[in-house]
Amino acid sequence: MDVEQMGSDLGQVLLTKEQIDERLAEMAKQIDEDYAGKNLLLVGVLKGAIYVMADLSRLLSQSVPMDWMAVSSYGSGTKSSGVVRILKDLDSDLTGRHVLIVEDIIDSGLTLSWLVGNLSSRGAASVEIATLLRKPEAAKVEVDVRYVGFDIPNEFVIGYGLDYAEKYRNLPFVGTLAPHVYGG
Ligand code: PRP
Repeated sequence: MDVEQMGSDLGQVLLTKEQIDERLAEMAKQIDEDYAGKNLLLVGVLKGAIYVMADLSRLLSQSVPMDWMAVSSYGSGTKSSGVVRILKDLDSDLTGRHVLIVEDIIDSGLTLSWLVGNLSSRGAASVEIATLLRKPEAAKVEVDVRYVGFDIPNEFVIGYGLDYAEKYRNLPFVGTLAPHVYGG
């Protein structure tokens, strides 16, 4: 799926596949340097992170194990309540591992804040975050993010793993939706 198939549902393209690839290559180079000789484990957060994980991990210069978690925010009925439930836990023991959480987006920061605390409590040697996107204006809690692809405006974005009602994840770019799709 690409721009043509989006038709009038597309607002605008924010980041092209080329821009994403270029930035991920820079991030991978930095990760290679920072984790040289370390027992690194990549932890992807389903489902949005699948494309970031696929592309970022293939840009690393060494074989790196990966594992996956699925989490769901719940509590007050809104996604960003800060209360997080584990839907699928890791298969790996984190004792002594250098964990790098791979994410598509940090919005309020509540999910990642909780996740860093949770993984740190399992005996990991370190827990850091790599995210393709971050929305600084949406932050509700401060999260220390070591690798950020792009800071973006506080707009609803789709593509490259990000969905609207489970649609549009498989777009190769990151874009906004036209208002009529929301009923706007
Ligand atoms: C997104 C994203 C993060 C979280 C960030 O996942 O992948 O996990 O939201 O939001 P926050 O900073 O406000 O906590 P989402 O819950 O949309 O699930 P998905 O990856 O399955 O689409």
